[in-house]
Amino acid sequence: MKILMVCLGNICRSPVAEGVLKHKANFYGLNIKVDSAGTSGFHNGENPDARSVAHAKTKGIDISNLVSRQFKVRDFDEFDVIYAMDKSNYFDILDLARNENDSKKVRLILNELHPGKNLAVPDPYYGGSDGFENVYNLLDGACDVICKKIIENNL
Ligand code: 4NP
Repeated sequence: MKILMVCLGNICRSPVAEGVLKHKANFYGLNIKVDSAGTSGFHNGENPDARSVAHAKTKGIDISNLVSRQFKVRDFDEFDVIYAMDKSNYFDILDLARNENDSKKVRLILNELHPGKNLAVPDPYYGGSDGFENVYNLLDGACDVICKKIIENNL
């Protein structure tokens, strides 16, 4: 199973999603590939935002060495499931889909936690520390569901 986490900048939300899912996969003994990307490319080559790094560190997860990159069409070939953090990311990824096989890989990540509600992981970039804690908690819950579905062969 290969999973890609996608947000706008690939410096705040999707690196946390990548770190949390890798951490949980390791805990559950799952052999999966996890990566992350941004729809924008604004922060290509940068490490995650220091606030995301700090919040993940308090939970024992080190994301400091991840490097931002832009989502590319070839990611549809590389990954089985592509998780968008919000609707804007979701539709930006879908705009790049070449066919139905590509588009059916794209999901809103919080629909794993709250099916059918189409909720967003709110962009914490311009806000305070609370936003980063909220992002972490939402992604922690969603990644638990993702791991359980993988274990049940049901993702
Ligand atoms: P992310 O947050 O999409 O969670 O990585 C953002 C990072 C940077 C910007 C916006 C959102 N920006 O506009 O530069």
